[in-house]
Amino acid sequence: MNIENPHASSLEVREKHFLVAATRRLPSACEERLIAKYFLRKGDDNATYSSSIFKAHAEGASALIVTPAERLDANTINSLPQTVKIIATFSVGHEHIDLDAASARGLIITNTPGVLTAATADLTLLLILAAARRAREGQKLIHSGNWSGIRPTQLLGTQVKGKRLGIIGMGRIGRAVANRSRSFGMKVYYHNRQPINSNDNAEAIYVPSLNDLISQSEILSLHCPLTPETKNILNAQRIANLPEGAIVVNTARGPLIDDNALIEALLSRKIASAGLDVYASEPNIDKRYLTMENVFLLPHLGSATKDTRAAMGMLAIDSIEAVLNGHEPPHQIL
Ligand code: DGY
Repeated sequence: MNIENPHASSLEVREKHFLVAATRRLPSACEERLIAKYFLRKGDDNATYSSSIFKAHAEGASALIVTPAERLDANTINSLPQTVKIIATFSVGHEHIDLDAASARGLIITNTPGVLTAATADLTLLLILAAARRAREGQKLIHSGNWSGIRPTQLLGTQVKGKRLGIIGMGRIGRAVANRSRSFGMKVYYHNRQPINSNDNAEAIYVPSLNDLISQSEILSLHCPLTPETKNILNAQRIANLPEGAIVVNTARGPLIDDNALIEALLSRKIASAGLDVYASEPNIDKRYLTMENVFLLPHLGSATKDTRAAMGMLAIDSIEAVLNGHEPPHQIL
């Protein structure tokens, strides 16, 4: 067990009442903040958290910091020690936590919304541009050492200016993507359960029918949460309705897309290219993606900037501190 107790004086040790267990290493400022106040059981970036490993890691802990890389199903939640009061997920998404089981255990669950909006929206634009401009093929050519110079017909991509961008899910990140995309000259449309307040709609046009949005989207970007209703929201039928040569981008959650349908459409060039940051069974990627030139892949880096990851950790700690001091946490899901 890796419990941090860095040269603490006996007085400091006496003042520390609670143990916080993190499943992964956290940005150093976050670990330092935790160590100043609590015992910290640091996480292991290489561990696979089975139920029994989770249970052992959580032994004696009052609070857990977890990430979407761990699955907290009912079995794992039920095996957690009774000492655990709060699970703070280092993410906005919380589909990896069985909320019914957590609720039955009386656990508090918190997440880290808001602070990762800009980073994730930036990365979405990176994927849109990389997919549109054939960045994967360009990288391959230059790294091969076989590039023979600029040619008028070499690796011609799609200009995003003037293209219709469809956004599924117009939450904070969807709106930030809309704002950025307008400055690239894209015409932005969105589908959401409800149209959003016109002051806040990033000058995007609401399309009440998802199928209508899809049939108009030359570029389609997914920004909805993963729920039983949104799983496979981009299925074979909807992919067939995309305009020929569309671009698909996903920085939300892998299971929103039916991989078989997407791969088939990429192979047939019904879809020109895709930019993906998230995958159905992370970290296991459907191997077919790895052999395709018209996909630009990143390893779930949406929120991966130093500032953002530190801010996410600080939000998680704010919630833990609130709960351990008997207060309501700022970002409570449950
Ligand atoms: C989230 O917050 O849900 C992201 O996927 C982590 O970057």
